[in-house]
Amino acid sequence: MRIAIVSDIHANLAAFEAVLAHARSVGYDAMVCLGDVVGYGPDPVECIDLVRSHCEWTLLGNHDFAAVYEPTNFNPVARKAAFWTRDRIFESTKPEHAEGYLASLVEHRDAGRITPATFAELEKGAKDPKGRAEFMFRISPRQILLDRYICVHGSPSRPVNEYMFPTDVEQNSYRLERNFRMLTLSSAAGEERRANAIVGHTHSPGFFLEEDKGVIEWLDFPRGVSEWTPSVDEMPPEARFILNPGSVGQPRDGDPRSSYAILTTGENDHPDRFTFHRVEYDIGRTQAKIRGLIAAGAPLDDWLAARLELGQ
Ligand SMILES: [Fe+2]
Repeated sequence: MRIAIVSDIHANLAAFEAVLAHARSVGYDAMVCLGDVVGYGPDPVECIDLVRSHCEWTLLGNHDFAAVYEPTNFNPVARKAAFWTRDRIFESTKPEHAEGYLASLVEHRDAGRITPATFAELEKGAKDPKGRAEFMFRISPRQILLDRYICVHGSPSRPVNEYMFPTDVEQNSYRLERNFRMLTLSSAAGEERRANAIVGHTHSPGFFLEEDKGVIEWLDFPRGVSEWTPSVDEMPPEARFILNPGSVGQPRDGDPRSSYAILTTGENDHPDRFTFHRVEYDIGRTQAKIRGLIAAGAPLDDWLAARLELGQ
């Protein structure tokens, strides 16, 4: 079973389209989303519609929470973007908005800004605008168990808001130890089984590895490649892992390409494989859209456009 894992799309349609096309080209059986469908980016409505048509389930990210409830601990740039995102989502559900939205989709398709395949999917979403808001309110699970992987947006012990940064290996090892301690599953028979975790939130692809003696290290997505399947030496079957597929819409590891992963669960006693992918997308298209919205009065900050090409 090949499960495509996307996270932190952050309303970046150009990036998500590129990842969907890539995932289709390499093949997958199911797609799941670790949260932060919206926030920061210019295309919340389109990204919600594509997530609801592609993903089996979606976790609640802190930016999804902020968009439909209340931003907590957000800096001013993120806070303003969250309120703007909320307005876009709820405005989009009004009947009088639907016609203009469909017309804008046709215009984007005719100008080559979205592919005909994306147009067809967005057109379906446009016919059920109320379902868009309902979908956002239904994104409530903080944790989902996928085979022997505990999936959360933030961290196993604080699933929506806690960051697990690569630098925590040196600077906050207690935080990582606390989270690895959470990774135990109890069977109905009372036996304990060790689990791994898959998280998003930091926008940094790679994984924490806990070896026998409790030593934790971080293995980063290698520079300069577009695909990485850690070897058995890098990912020994007896160790435990907290994996991060990186961010589709706002990578922050210095590489501006979109990031996602495919988990191939073990068949015939083969160990699971986790393959990270980096995908180029039209960054200029998303930047131009953000800057166009700013010029039209949207309370978005230019940094949201600038950071995309820096991978920050
Ligand atoms: Fe995020």
